[in-house]
Amino acid sequence: MQTDKAHLNHAETIEKIRARKRELGKQLIILTHHYQRKEIVELGDFAGDSFELSRKAAADRDCRYIVFCGVHFMAESAAILAQPGQVVQIPNTEAGCWMAGMAEAETVKSAWEQIESIAGGDSTIPVVYMNSDAELKSFCGNRGGIVCTSSNAAEAVKWAFGQKEKILFFPDRHLGRNVGHDLGIAPEEMVVWSPGKALGGNDPDAVRRARVILWDGYCLVHTRFTVEQIEKMRTEFPEARIVVHPECTREVVAQADACGSTSYIVKYVREAPQGSTIVIGTEINLIHRLAFEYPDKKVLDLHYSLCPNMFRINLANLFQTLENIGDMNVVGVPRQIKAGAKLALDRMLALA
Ligand code: 13P
Ligand code: SF4
Repeated sequence: MQTDKAHLNHAETIEKIRARKRELGKQLIILTHHYQRKEIVELGDFAGDSFELSRKAAADRDCRYIVFCGVHFMAESAAILAQPGQVVQIPNTEAGCWMAGMAEAETVKSAWEQIESIAGGDSTIPVVYMNSDAELKSFCGNRGGIVCTSSNAAEAVKWAFGQKEKILFFPDRHLGRNVGHDLGIAPEEMVVWSPGKALGGNDPDAVRRARVILWDGYCLVHTRFTVEQIEKMRTEFPEARIVVHPECTREVVAQADACGSTSYIVKYVREAPQGSTIVIGTEINLIHRLAFEYPDKKVLDLHYSLCPNMFRINLANLFQTLENIGDMNVVGVPRQIKAGAKLALDRMLALA
């Protein structure tokens, strides 16, 4: 009985959301990240990786309201890139990102000053992963730096090396290391900066020699994947292709067949021949949706790993947001932060 009632509520809420969307028409656009629950993605107007979603937010000049079904840093980036007068709302303000919380403006500024004092005032450029607060994007923009996402990190790092000899990459040490590796940077030219330790736990010579300084942040969802899991899957499914997200460790990425952003993973599955087996190392909701959409392929998870932050968006809070359009959970960015953050985001958009 309970299940029937839950089902009915679910179907009713979906119908109410559709009706509200019809009422709002072109005034509204719902953007959904690939890690959202299947029913949320189905109700959205556009699903994508974090780069595509920011590009979409910057490009849509007609709508009045952007409802962002994703985590806070994504909605915040949309608010920075949106046109004046457009309102960005997030259905649940508690949908944060653990990794974004691992780099705070004060500690990054202190690291920056220490690096400059050791390596010279004009040696280093900051590259900030999209998974960060607006204040850090602003810090980056005001120092000639750039934002990157998992789909354009290699281009952003190449661009940054065109400006300065050394990069401070934050907050994701694994994405930074994976990109550094792909660009042929030797492991000894990359050092990890542990916030809270003097010189990030490095000796001055190591900081002077380093070409890439990696902030010690990481994603708890993606660092759950291991080489042992890959070995087990290869034994069980020798025919399988394994694709992972670049927030996984270097060791895991090295053992996989392919690595890329969430949209890359979607494309990888879409383009795989019928009957193929694909094992995926990323957030579970995306994997389940792909398994549902491609029943002619065997789509398996490398390991069950859910992002509870993404999961905070649901039908009930999406409906509530639409009922309070222009009003509830509006994502705002202070003016003094917005300008610098927009500089760094615009540099990223210009790369494409
Ligand atoms: P994508 O940019 O690949 O969508 O990744 C965002 C993210 O948060 C992955 O954990
Ligand atoms: Fe943040 Fe990891 Fe969740 Fe992505 S999967 S939003 S990096 S906590």
